[in-house]
Amino acid sequence: MKKKLADSYGREVNYLRISVTEQCNLSCFYCRTDPASCSPGPEELLLSATEIFVIGQAAVELGMTRIRLTGGEPLLRPDILEIARNLSGIAGLQDLSLTTNGILLEETAFELARAGIKRVNISLDSLDEANFAQITCGGKLANVLKGIDRALLAGLVPLKINVVLLKGINDSEIQKFAALTMDRELDVRFIEYMPTCGQKGKWESFFLSLDSIIKEAGKIAPLIAVEGEHGGGPASYYRLEGAVGKIGLISPLSRHFCDRCNRLRVTADGRIKPCLFSSEEIDLRDCLKDREKIKDRFREALRIKPDPGKVACSALDRVGQFKGNRSMTRIGG
Ligand code: GTP
Ligand code: 5AD
Repeated sequence: MKKKLADSYGREVNYLRISVTEQCNLSCFYCRTDPASCSPGPEELLLSATEIFVIGQAAVELGMTRIRLTGGEPLLRPDILEIARNLSGIAGLQDLSLTTNGILLEETAFELARAGIKRVNISLDSLDEANFAQITCGGKLANVLKGIDRALLAGLVPLKINVVLLKGINDSEIQKFAALTMDRELDVRFIEYMPTCGQKGKWESFFLSLDSIIKEAGKIAPLIAVEGEHGGGPASYYRLEGAVGKIGLISPLSRHFCDRCNRLRVTADGRIKPCLFSSEEIDLRDCLKDREKIKDRFREALRIKPDPGKVACSALDRVGQFKGNRSMTRIGG
């Protein structure tokens, strides 16, 4: 059996997030970048489908078993099906997934499934049409809802909805989101709003810890913790009594999970990011044709993944440790 891939602190690293574009077809206010420091780079610097394939091959040869495609909005990439088909053919890859805002999912869900995408996570921060339009700067909620229906039909499951909890914006919708899990096979995950580059002042205004979720969702039915494997990500899961789907909590600030971090990221312009909160990057662009060199760069990224023992335990101190140099759309979530 292949040896497990681990970093210098013994964490098993088996999950690669590859961003395929920095562009997005929504403009969520909390994600919108400060143009001076964080606007998207030129499209011609993006990794090609072939380069993404070679990176995927190198990662799986090293021992990674999961790949997630992210963005920006990955469905904007004209060759997204080719990218998925290439990666899904890699022997040893067990899980190929994609995170999307769902706007283009209705027309692409079946093709994505045929191209080898196994499951999708969908970002959706409001179930109210007007609120959704306000948050996303003009997005149409109906498109996302149709995308969710279609993805379920296409078998892109388990399907997870990501809700970034935002004070005064969508915290009145917690119960409505939680209720979605009652009779449909989907998981709703609430996420703490993280600081990213170019969001000066926004974090302080909108951050809410997830402590209120259990209390609010518990008004619908008793909540039961669900142990075990639910993908590969950092969420912890609960089920409302009698519900088909689950509720997940992702609390990077109030209850960080760095000691369980199992991932590396590759940005759309070909840099490995060993940690979401750090500005350190390792450039792959001079070795994109050479799998062995790519593997060496991944090993280097594992070597410099930060020490989880040094991570602050309070949300405020954790934010103080944020050293990111890119907006979320330029990292891939
Ligand atoms: P699953 O395999 O389905 O569990 O995927 P996932 O939850 O890892 O992926 P997704 O793209 O849906 O990410 C959900 C949220 O978790 C996003 O807000 C991410 O930014 C956040 N997240 C994912 N990985 C990390 C991480 O390493 N550190 C932190 N702080 N947040 C992360
Ligand atoms: N904090 C937390 N989650 C975020 N996302 C985007 N920006 C942030 C942020 N600042 C979420 C998106 C998507 C996932 C990949 O990351 O909503 O679901």
